[in-house]
Amino acid sequence: MRIWAVANQKGGVGKTTTTLALAGLLADAGKRVLVVDLDPHGSMTSYFGYDPDTMEHSCYDLFQHAGSIPRGLPEQLLRDTSHENIKILPSSTALAVLERQSPGQGGLGLVISRTLTQLSDEFDFALIDSPPLLGVLMVNALAASEYLVIPVQTEFLALKGLERMVNTLKMINNSRKQALPYSIVPTLFDRRTQASMIALRMLKKQYPETLWQAYIPIDTRLRDASREGLVPSRFDKNSRAMLAYRALLKHILAKLFEPLPISQSIDSDSKVHSQ
Ligand SMILES: Nc1ncnc2c1ncn2[C@@H]1O[C@H](COP(=O)(O)OP(=O)(O)O)[C@@H](O)[C@H]1O
Ligand SMILES: [Mg+2]
Repeated sequence: MRIWAVANQKGGVGKTTTTLALAGLLADAGKRVLVVDLDPHGSMTSYFGYDPDTMEHSCYDLFQHAGSIPRGLPEQLLRDTSHENIKILPSSTALAVLERQSPGQGGLGLVISRTLTQLSDEFDFALIDSPPLLGVLMVNALAASEYLVIPVQTEFLALKGLERMVNTLKMINNSRKQALPYSIVPTLFDRRTQASMIALRMLKKQYPETLWQAYIPIDTRLRDASREGLVPSRFDKNSRAMLAYRALLKHILAKLFEPLPISQSIDSDSKVHSQ
């Protein structure tokens, strides 16, 4: 199983949308995909029609068994979604009590990593949506992942949040065996506005190595998809935003599976790539 996280210490930048756009494309290609909602607000959980305020069982259950997660518990928490190849580990509002806890406390940092190990035969990909705060939950997301996507809204104020995120990552890399590779992804780009243009130019200058060299445009089809509870590719697979997300997915796959031709890495069995 390949595990990716989508994170930024800022809300409203397109984290949940990016998670679902990428998950949908992988699932459309026949991959078995797990999406993990680690945001106590539970946007992704709501997206698929579940109410995070009343969820009886959620990711929170896993954190109550920090040291050793009972066999079979992760499977019990999985829920279906509108896509037959996507399952969700839902969030619940209860997660909020963990959100601000310091990551060092009580050895809670590897709960999600251990959970995904238990599920590794059942899925080809796991995509983790994170809360906009550095705490136990984000640390779990980053510790479990082999790749990180950082969506950043193309506006001036968002660049500050990005700086914070990149610093957080440096801190977390100190406690990982290998530095976590990442891509910065400009989102909500509106070419008619000066603000978007300026932000994009600054990003290119400040992050020449890690910036994905394209952007996700503003596209109302994404909001329409969320209203319907469908992953964006199922709602309109040729919308402008989805064309951009498809290019982003190819970029990530090419980075992770460098020796293989891109088409092969999307189309063939992921087991081939984990060798
Ligand atoms: N490229 C886009 N174009 C138009 N609306 C978008 C785009 N990306 C996200 N949105 C909308 O912006 C809002 C915030 O996005 P979301 O993915 O929930 O951000 P986050 O998870 O970072 O808080 C949502 O209503 C979403 O539908
Ligand atoms: Mg979100």
